[in-house]
Amino acid sequence: MNSYITVRDDRRFIYRRIGDEKQKVKKQEQLKKMLTHSEFTLKGNCAISLLLTKLDIINTILMMENGRSAIQQKTARLKEYESVCKKLEKKGLDLDFDIAVEKINDLIGVRAICAYVDDIYKVASLIERQKDIRIIKTKDYIREPKKSGYQSLHLILEAAISFQSETQWIKIELQLRTAAMDYWASLDHQLRYKRGGKEAQLIDEELQQCAAVISSLDQKMLKIRKKIDKI
Ligand code: GTP
Ligand code: MG
Repeated sequence: MNSYITVRDDRRFIYRRIGDEKQKVKKQEQLKKMLTHSEFTLKGNCAISLLLTKLDIINTILMMENGRSAIQQKTARLKEYESVCKKLEKKGLDLDFDIAVEKINDLIGVRAICAYVDDIYKVASLIERQKDIRIIKTKDYIREPKKSGYQSLHLILEAAISFQSETQWIKIELQLRTAAMDYWASLDHQLRYKRGGKEAQLIDEELQQCAAVISSLDQKMLKIRKKIDKI
């Protein structure tokens, strides 16, 4: 009798597990669909276009003020499915679209490379003043660089987009950095995948030193420009 109950319970447990697994696979398929071909990707691309245009207008305003370009380059992307999965797994979260939208800030990402460090803050302040943008969070990794040495100003924002009769607020991560910060970040990103083993700590320290050199270079360039501005 006892063993009969155990078998029945085992079966129930197995069926529940199968049900859970099926649900997991379904959610993962849904995540892939939403990140490759969906209303989310279409609207995400609209949000990118809007922010890129805003940055062009801001650059024009600053160009009129300063007689030079503050934004040198802009890039944008929707985060790819594989990369979203990796990030969710790293954060110990389920592979679920709603969770991804809530917990991952850079599903939609825009990056602007600025000429000087003070340009970064000028651009940020003009972005903050836009009526159809609301700032959710500012992460200032320039004033407080990350332990790795990473520097950039991140604005996690929501942009209002009107689709026919309804307005939707869409979350975007805007990364603002200088060319020097971008150079460091891209090489760090490349090297990160190859790092490991006993050399890892030494390499981390060397990269931190490079980040310090880059920061001092940015400060020197800014000083020179300010000197020239006064002439
Ligand atoms: P992840 O660090 O990506 O898991 O995101 P998060 O939610 O912890 O936010 P965080 O502000 O730490 O990082 C957001 C983004 O900044 C990342 O996706 C990268 O693009 C960039 N970033 C942050 N730290 C580093 C770093 O140490 N090196 C490089 N190259 N990029 C970084
Ligand atoms: Mg992080």
